[in-house]
Amino acid sequence: MKKSIQSLLAALLLVFACNTAFSQTYNNLWIPDTLAGPTFNLAIKDTFKQIVSTGQQTITGGINGNFWGPTLIFNKGDEVHLNVKNNLNDSTTIHWHGMHLPAVMDGGPHQVIPPGTTWQPYWTVTNNAATYWYHPHLHEMTEEHITKGIGGLIIVRDNIESALALPRKYGVDDIPLALTDRDINNSNQFVTVPYGDSMLVNGTLRPQYNIPAQVVRFRVLNGAIERSYNLGFSDNRTFYIITSDGGLLNAPVGVTRYVLHAGERVEILVDCSGQQGTSVDLKAFNSTLSNFVAGGESFVGGPFANYLGHLDFRILHLNIGAQTANPITAIPSALTNNVLINEADADITRHLTISDSTGVPGILGPNAFIINHHLFNINYNDYHVPLNNTEIWEITSNSIFGHPFHIHDVEFNILTVNGAAPAAAQAGWKDVVFIPGRTGNTPSVVRFIAKFEDYADSLHPFMFHCHISLHEDEGMMGQFVVTGSTPTGVNEVQAKDFTLYPNPANNRLYFNFADASTTAYYVKIINAVGKTVYMLPRPQLQSGLDISDLAPGMYMLQFTDEKTKVTTTKKFIKE
Ligand code: C2O
Ligand code: CU
Ligand code: CU
Repeated sequence: MKKSIQSLLAALLLVFACNTAFSQTYNNLWIPDTLAGPTFNLAIKDTFKQIVSTGQQTITGGINGNFWGPTLIFNKGDEVHLNVKNNLNDSTTIHWHGMHLPAVMDGGPHQVIPPGTTWQPYWTVTNNAATYWYHPHLHEMTEEHITKGIGGLIIVRDNIESALALPRKYGVDDIPLALTDRDINNSNQFVTVPYGDSMLVNGTLRPQYNIPAQVVRFRVLNGAIERSYNLGFSDNRTFYIITSDGGLLNAPVGVTRYVLHAGERVEILVDCSGQQGTSVDLKAFNSTLSNFVAGGESFVGGPFANYLGHLDFRILHLNIGAQTANPITAIPSALTNNVLINEADADITRHLTISDSTGVPGILGPNAFIINHHLFNINYNDYHVPLNNTEIWEITSNSIFGHPFHIHDVEFNILTVNGAAPAAAQAGWKDVVFIPGRTGNTPSVVRFIAKFEDYADSLHPFMFHCHISLHEDEGMMGQFVVTGSTPTGVNEVQAKDFTLYPNPANNRLYFNFADASTTAYYVKIINAVGKTVYMLPRPQLQSGLDISDLAPGMYMLQFTDEKTKVTTTKKFIKE
């Protein structure tokens, strides 16, 4: 008897040891910290991280950490203030993907933050509750900066979402999943190429995570350079999509597969009730993707080598454990009541084109894909959108390849994809829409509708582009300005005339305007050697500028007037 207990114990130990050895092939999924506002301090830096479990650390870029960045929690209606300090050796930008905000705060290619500079955008959050993200957007450098790992998620909360019985315990039953893949070379370094050989979730290789046996919410971002992921579970269970990019759907949409393209987000609910002690994998079923959807190709060599191409692979191993207190155990039947834009209200239809710029079939060289027959030109605006316009954008693609098309400033409603109404999971607010490749000689046509109801600004355009960073960097991007009424009766000399006081100043620098109605479009503070230390879009000057962080010395203050856009420079001394 005693002997058999001993051998039973030995057998159990063996099983335990095997399990341990097995689970060591996984790494525990890293969950980014959250930051709550209204002020958010983000410091971007070059750093390194032990991404591969053995050998050298990987050179990375991170925000407040060593890969990726914190998850920002915004509440709809709040005025949020971001202090973005660029500690890289390179210029970069940070774009708030999906946020509706003034173009000068948008962080696109026009809002370049030089090294050592702090950029301080702020805006009032008007977006619906959903998952958004932030990432670099410097023209021709986006792929490289995203590859380093710079970026982060944004969670917007609002009253409608908060009133629903949805999982909301961050990292417990509400889990952020930033999906991407990287090519990791023999010295454990990232290579800047569109497709990786290794799947990463929140920067973790071969991740596993423990989830409770109840309804669990995943906020899934496709943060890849190029690859689309055909999401599904290893047991083919149904999961429920509750958001499109920019808000809740009217009701959860049950699916077993869902293709998420670069830049898109989807929040899903997965019911794990009664499954304690089991495990399941979230997978990419990419063997079913066509050759003309990113990740469906299977090139084995060359610059587009794609080791995970046209394959099914694991994204995340999930161990289902005990329930939490007050678990959510049911999938809600209704979520919200979206009032979509009426097609009949459109003021104009804009016709955009996507095409392949090379004439050689099958050989896609540099600048392979273009919008409106031209490469991106940072000084050319494709459109002047009159303030308050409701517009249909009709995108006709002759490209052989599918492209996830993204527009800044607005969330839109998809009207048709090749003549058909959008899938149920996309019949809400979107900011990325997949434009399928042509079929034979028949181009694809996608139509969406959006309203441009505020933030007119003649100087700073908004972007639209393919969200495959490689294509975007190669020039598959255009821009538009939203134009308001031109101001009349402005006295230019008066509007820009001001003095700074006290001078020398210590902690705060105040403005005395000759014309009290003067408002600032932009203020830059430049040090004695000509380096921009602060970039302040539309600063609120009533209570002065906080200059307590400046080193003592002489500075130039460059003031751009809101009405006239005239720039004036004044000197001041910081004590
Ligand atoms: Cu997510 Cu213009 O970008
Ligand atoms: Cu964007
Ligand atoms: Cu593209």
